[in-house]
Amino acid sequence: MSDAAVWWGEGTYERLAELLSPVHDVLLERLALSAGERFLDVATGTGAVAIRAAHAGADVTACDLAPGMIAKARAEAGVAEIAFDVADARSLPYGDSSFDVVASAFGVVFAPQPETAAAQLARVCRPGGRLGLTTWVPDEEVAAAYEPFTGGREPSTDAWGDPNSLERLLGDSFGLEVERRTWWATGRNGAEVWRLFSTSAPPLKALLESLPEERRPALRNAFVDIYERYRDSDGVRYPNDYLLVAGTRR
Ligand SMILES: C[S@@+](CC[C@H](N)C(=O)[O-])C[C@H]1O[C@@H](n2cnc3c(N)ncnc32)[C@H](O)[C@@H]1O
Repeated sequence: MSDAAVWWGEGTYERLAELLSPVHDVLLERLALSAGERFLDVATGTGAVAIRAAHAGADVTACDLAPGMIAKARAEAGVAEIAFDVADARSLPYGDSSFDVVASAFGVVFAPQPETAAAQLARVCRPGGRLGLTTWVPDEEVAAAYEPFTGGREPSTDAWGDPNSLERLLGDSFGLEVERRTWWATGRNGAEVWRLFSTSAPPLKALLESLPEERRPALRNAFVDIYERYRDSDGVRYPNDYLLVAGTRR
């Protein structure tokens, strides 16, 4: 198993997924599923999108690189009928045109080789079918704060983060509509948000654990400083911009 398949499955991502639930709701609303539609959730994580689709009556398949995530998603799904697979978004184990709707919430964006992953989304979606993605808009403030620790080695989600690059990745296969929105990360203070993210956001947790002990407080302080710059009377409130991407397969 790759290192990424291991570290994505560790920690408590389900806590973050819970906070992202307004975004999952927006994505499902945008996709307006009908009962019986064949639905694929790529990089399902703990299954938030897949479970919503199953409740909407779709015929749902969900996959993720990390066996640890798939185990949690199965447990979360309970009696909801969902076919789960461990699979890399760059080589989806499904036939051409086998889904009416293909979705990925902050998921496929993490696959290395964005062009390969984008081609897979198009391959498995039938002509006339729909695509629904949420993707992070690049955040220069956060990138600058992390740079001394990552040395630029962090996997970047930037290729999916603006309408022009989305058009380059997906425009030949899908007619796209892109809407910019904001998800707010909130807490009583920066230290509280750090405790959540450093245990529940696997890329940050993996970065922290890759550092020698003596450098870890500096990463924490850089993170806390950013959040403390966004303080109001209720605590801290940081805007994370994302794109809601809706596509129709050509
Ligand atoms: C931020 S989580 C999002 C999970 C879920 N879609 C949600 O909205 O809660 C990113 C997910 O992408 C998965 N992932 C990362 N790289 C992947 C790849 N190459 N192929 C498939 N899944 C991948 C991770 O294991 C993780 O579950």
